[in-house]
Parts: sequence; structure tokens; C-alpha cells
Amino acid sequence: MRFLFIYNLLLLLFEKMLTNTAELFRNAPPTAIFAIGAFVILAFSLVIREFLNPLSKIPGPWIAKYTDIYTTYQFLSGNKPRYVHSLHKKYGIMAPRISCIEFEGSTSNPVLPIGPVVRVAPHEVDIADISAVKEIHRVGGKYLKSEFYDKIGHRGGRTLFNQTDPHLHAIRRKLLSAGMARANIVHLEPDVMQRIQLTMKRMQEENDHSGVIDVFKWWTFMAADVITELSFGQSFQTTEHGLKTPLITTLQKQSFFMAVRTTFPSLLPWAQLLPLPLLKEVQAGGQRIFHRASQAIGQYKRMVDSGLNTRRTLFSNLLKSETRELTEMEIIQEACGYIAAGSDTTAITMTYLIWSVCRNQSIRDRLVTEVKGLPDGFSEESVRDLTYLNQVINEALRLHSAVPSALPRRVPPEGATLGGYYIPGGTTASTQAYTLHRDPVLFPASESFNPSRWENPTKEMKAAFMPFGGGTRACIGIHLAWMELLLATTLFFRKFPDARVSTKEGMCDEDMGVKAYLLVSPKSRRCLIEV
Ligand code: HEM
Repeated sequence: MRFLFIYNLLLLLFEKMLTNTAELFRNAPPTAIFAIGAFVILAFSLVIREFLNPLSKIPGPWIAKYTDIYTTYQFLSGNKPRYVHSLHKKYGIMAPRISCIEFEGSTSNPVLPIGPVVRVAPHEVDIADISAVKEIHRVGGKYLKSEFYDKIGHRGGRTLFNQTDPHLHAIRRKLLSAGMARANIVHLEPDVMQRIQLTMKRMQEENDHSGVIDVFKWWTFMAADVITELSFGQSFQTTEHGLKTPLITTLQKQSFFMAVRTTFPSLLPWAQLLPLPLLKEVQAGGQRIFHRASQAIGQYKRMVDSGLNTRRTLFSNLLKSETRELTEMEIIQEACGYIAAGSDTTAITMTYLIWSVCRNQSIRDRLVTEVKGLPDGFSEESVRDLTYLNQVINEALRLHSAVPSALPRRVPPEGATLGGYYIPGGTTASTQAYTLHRDPVLFPASESFNPSRWENPTKEMKAAFMPFGGGTRACIGIHLAWMELLLATTLFFRKFPDARVSTKEGMCDEDMGVKAYLLVSPKSRRCLIEV
């Protein structure tokens, strides 16, 4: 009886609703009816498509199923690596084959493993499962750089870094790798050493003058001068001038510029016409690097052609007229790529390394003792064997990876099973060092700077450690970067054994908070050290 009553009541309500809706539509203009109809059809088709999508089984926030808008917002806010990492942590608890693991026999402090795969956008997943990561970044593997890289180059220029065609990439890599090989880099050591020595001198002068050293500024000068000197036979001399020129400001902001460039690629050609100063600034930044690189390459080429300059550079072979395999424009674009990829990365790593060491007196003193033991006139060869120095650099690269963000790759057309989930072909499978380097099982207390964890690294720790990417697309500048990191750290702590983080001018930990786009940078773009 009661059931019948409720049933009738519901029918009446439904009938009323239909009548009201019909009434509403009768009075509504046809465009509104069309818009509502289109919205209902769109919503319905989205739900059906998602229901049939194999990616729907992958854990992630509901919004990631339908739009990438929230992930894009995180990207533009310089927070995507942290956001994606929080998803790995959140969905780790729900991952199918994962249970709570105890760490070092402690039952009171269990370590929750991170989720192996999370969905971050309708067509993008992030992978933290180490064997899947290794498959994605295998030498000669099938996971190619995604269309994200198509949007990186200024004026659509193609370089080694953003080339997505594997065949063209292989040709370019072969051409450039001789210059960047360890055997060639060791010949360039005197230039690198001299540049770092000059940087030390300039840092000392700044300290004498103002009582603090902005190491972020000086490492940016140093790294920009090293890469330009090695590329063009002549540096941009920013260390000598000691001024934050527009070019240096562009380099320090390029990570954010890259985020804008890749998010709004179709707006950039209209930058001059649109009333958006940010777009103009991004275009001008790319133009500035391009202009300086083309000037320098032009000048160097003229010297090579007239037999004036016999100095070996990273591009010497490519500029010899008898073997010219790249056009001048291609060499300029490659040089721009080197400046962009090779200055900020090293400067950021050095800045966070110095900051982390200077915050912890026992780490600093142990490092100082080791580097002080070297004879005067030491070479990079002897520094390479310093145990603690290497541990410090590894730990800086782990915790403050200059490229902590997603390295997006396209899943091959046949699809793949990664981290226990089937991922259809064409999906973007990203991996991010931020998460790999914070795996709580491999790197306990992962947020603390602890060089000693590298005393006896396990096979798994080494596998998860990817500050220079991996496989076919691993960093071509790794030997140069290591040389700079080894020499700069050694020279700095030999010269400034009492270095500590300053509190002058309001400097605090907040300044070193991270903005992470493709690269990271300290929020305040400064790092003040007292010596
Ligand atoms: C500490 C310093 C450095 C770090 C942490 C670093 C990191 C990386 C990473 C993670 C990648 C892979 C990017 C991806 O897969 O999308 C990469 C690629 C690359 N890096 Fe570096 N890098 C450093 C220094 C340098 C230097 C000094 C150069 C000098 C030219 C350089 C040039 C390049 C180039 C050209 C590529 C693209 C390689 C390819 O796709 O074949 N990097 N780097």
C-alpha cells in the first residue's frame, strides 16, 4: 500500500517535471534549446567514451578523465611535478599489487609505496614503476618524444633537443656527439677551469663589496659563459661584466617562458598584435638568444674560414667548409639549444648544491676536509675520485634535480602494458625525476639532503636515479655538466670553507622554494651566501 503511494507520488513528480521542462523549452529561444541539446549530447558522449576508454581503469582525479585544464593550471603555476607526485602518493594506497611495506624493521613507521601509474590528463599518464620507466627510456626504444616537444623551439626551430623524428634525431646526435664525448670534453678542461676560477674571484669581490654573494647569479654567468665559450670560441663575458643583462634574465626565466610557449603555441605568432605583454616577452626572449647565437656563430665562422681561429670548439667540425653537414641556420639553432639546455641546468644544480651543503655544517665540513686535501693545480681527473664530493653531487642531482618534470613520450601504436595497466597506443606516458627520486622505499626520508645515502647505492637506487634522462634521448651534455659540477664545487669550498646561508636582505628558506616548469628555479631567483 505504502509502496503504491510512493510510486504514484514519483510518477506525478516526474510528469510535473516533464511538463515544466516542456513549458521552459516552449518559451525558450531556439538557440538556447540548441545549446542545451548540444551540451547534453556532449556530456553524454564524454561519459560513454570514458566508460569505454582503457585509461579509465588507471587511478587519478575525476577531472583528469575529461580535461587537462587542471594539470595545465598546475604546469603554468610551476607546480606540476609536485602535483603529479601527490597523485602518485595518494593513489599508491589504492594500487592493486601494493601493500604497506615496513622500513628497517619499524612497525610504527610504515612506508607507503607510491602508485606505479596515475592518470594526469585525458590522454596522459605518469609512470613511476621502475621497469616501465626503463622500457620507456631504453636505448633504441619505441617511445618517441611526444608532440609537446614540437612546441618548444623558437620560430619552430628543430634542434637535437626537440627533434621528435627518430631518424632525423639519430643523424643529428651522431654529428654532435663527437664534440660532447668525454674524450673531447677533457681537452676543454683548461677553459672550464679558467672560467670557474674567474667566477670565484668575482664572487670574492662581491662579498668584499656587499658582504654577501648571490651564487645563483654567478653560477648562471659561469654556466652561460662556459657553454658559449665552448660553442663559439668566445664567451658572452657575463662573468667579466657581472651584470644581469637582458640575456641573463631571459636565461633565468626561460623555464617559465618555455611553459608559456608550449601551452599557447598558436598565440605566439600573434604576440606583436595581441595586447598581452607576457607573450611579447616570451617572443623577445627567444629572439634575444637567437640573435646572440647567430652573431657569435657568424663571427666564429668568418674566423674559421679565414684561418684565424684554430681553437677547438663543440662546433668546429661542423663549421669546416669541406665537411659542412649542417646549414649555418641549423648550427645557430643548435647553439641556441645548447645555451638553453646547458646554462640554466648547471647553474640551478650548483645553486641548490651550495645552499644544501651550507645549511648543514657537518656536511660542509666533511666536504671541505676532502677538497682541501687536493694538491694545488689539481685536475678534474683527481677530483673525479673524491668519494664524498661525488656523493654530494649525486644527492644534489637527486633532491634538486634541475629537470624534475615530466619527460613526455608517446606509447607506440600497438599499445603497451606499463606498471600493470594496459595503455593504448598514442597515449602520452610521462616519467618525472621528481617522483622517481623521492621513492620512499628506495630513498628513505627522501626530502632530507643526505649525501651518505650514496655510500653503497643499491641497483634499484641507481635505476631510479635519472637526473639526465635516459636511453637514446639522455642528456648529451652530461660529461660537460659533470666536469663543471666537480670543478665548481671543489673550487668553491676550497676558497670559501666557512660558507653559510645568509639571512641578510631578508634571505630565508622561502627564497629557495621551487618553481618547477620543465626546469626548476628558486622562487626569488637569488641565493645569498656569506663567506
Ligand atoms: C646539471 C646539468 C644538466 C642536467 C640536469 C641536464 C638534464 C637533461 C635531461 C633530463 C635531458 C633529457 C630531456 C628530455 O628527455 O626531454 C637532457 C637532454 C639534453 N641536454 Fe642536458 N642537462 C644538463 C646539462 C646539459 C649541458 C651542459 C648541455 C650542453 C649542451 C646539455 C644539453 C642537452 C641536450 C642537447 C639534450 C637533448 C639530447 C637529445 O635529445 O638527444 N645539457 N638534459
